[in-house]
Amino acid sequence: MFGAVINKYGDTSVLEYNDLLEEPKPKANQVLVEIRASSINPIDLMKRQGYGKAIFEKQRSASFPWILGSDFAGIVKEVGTKVSKFSKGDEVWGCTSHANHGCYAQYGVFDLNEIDFKPTNISFNEAASLPYVALTTWATLIRWASLRPQDIKNKKVLVQAGAGGVGTFAIQLFKSWNCEIATTCSNHNYDLVKSLGAKTVIDYSNEDFSNMLKDYDIVLDCVGDLGGESFMKKCIQVLKQENTSHYITLNHPFVRTLDDKGVLLGLPHALYLRQKLKREQRPINIHWSLFRPSLSGLQELNKLVSEEVVKPVVDSIFGLKEIVLAHDKASTGHASGKVVIQNIND
Ligand SMILES: NC(=O)c1ccc[n+]([C@@H]2O[C@H](COP(=O)([O-])OP(=O)(O)OC[C@H]3O[C@@H](n4cnc5c(N)ncnc54)[C@H](OP(=O)(O)O)[C@@H]3O)[C@@H](O)[C@H]2O)c1
Repeated sequence: MFGAVINKYGDTSVLEYNDLLEEPKPKANQVLVEIRASSINPIDLMKRQGYGKAIFEKQRSASFPWILGSDFAGIVKEVGTKVSKFSKGDEVWGCTSHANHGCYAQYGVFDLNEIDFKPTNISFNEAASLPYVALTTWATLIRWASLRPQDIKNKKVLVQAGAGGVGTFAIQLFKSWNCEIATTCSNHNYDLVKSLGAKTVIDYSNEDFSNMLKDYDIVLDCVGDLGGESFMKKCIQVLKQENTSHYITLNHPFVRTLDDKGVLLGLPHALYLRQKLKREQRPINIHWSLFRPSLSGLQELNKLVSEEVVKPVVDSIFGLKEIVLAHDKASTGHASGKVVIQNIND
């Protein structure tokens, strides 16, 4: 099969197109999918550069070649002996965080909690842009912050980096819960985030959001470290000083700490830092979020897309052979929505 692999960590030059890769075989509880499209998430760029080595190398059967990519939309080619939900020819979508199941390839095998039927009203390219960012947002709110949709309804929410992959989805989700949304982006993305449902749009290169916003209930921080040292404090400043307020960051320190200190020392150190910050910021609730696969989240996403409550936001589309250009584009940190990879050989 064809695919894009890395054989060592590094910049975009380590990405290689290869059409002699071994086709994966589905286990009894897995589905083999002919992948029509995938998309790029910042985690792919980070893994390419060696981020998470301490964990991901332990999970991989061989260190290299490594196929990156989490999102997929495609067609079922074969099902494992215990799978009855899907049949050959079904149109499916989903995402994975398995170290051995990358999506920048012609075929991929997926576990049953990672895959579902694709909404029929969007293309493969559009479908591949959504699962990872949507399920990250879903895990952020439901799993890590323990919030239910009814807890979020009508709240005042700040989405940092509203024009990115997660931000464009999150704004639409919060809008569906009737939230009042403020967001930050560059001037050129003003119309985009407005059209998705943001009420207040702040151009972060010219204005300081912390002087403009107050009494918010939730901050979803998709900027984190990139915003500089005081960024998190500023985000927390815009929240009400109450125990119903939540600051949630997507930039989790765990993996980096494990890379720096090793798993044995890194884990307790990261837990200590987290507890310390939680204590310091009381009564505000502080959460670090990590993507988690969720079949119920994927099914909810299907409903939102089918009802056109959520629309995919695609910045650009590249062929798999253009994987270097696609990573370059995502690396700018200024894509509007998602960079999609299309498997043009079909
Ligand atoms: N913990 C997890 O499991 C998890 C999962 C997914 C993502 N993440 C993290 O969450 C972050 C967002 O992910 P993503 O997929 O949305 O990334 P993305 O699509 O690459 O985000 C790009 C966007 O960030 C905006 N941006 C850059 N600097 C900004 C700043 N200082 N203030 C406001 N906006 C800024 C850009 O907007 P303009 O072009 O308008 O400047 C651009 O639209 C990344 O750091 C990613 O690593 C974590």
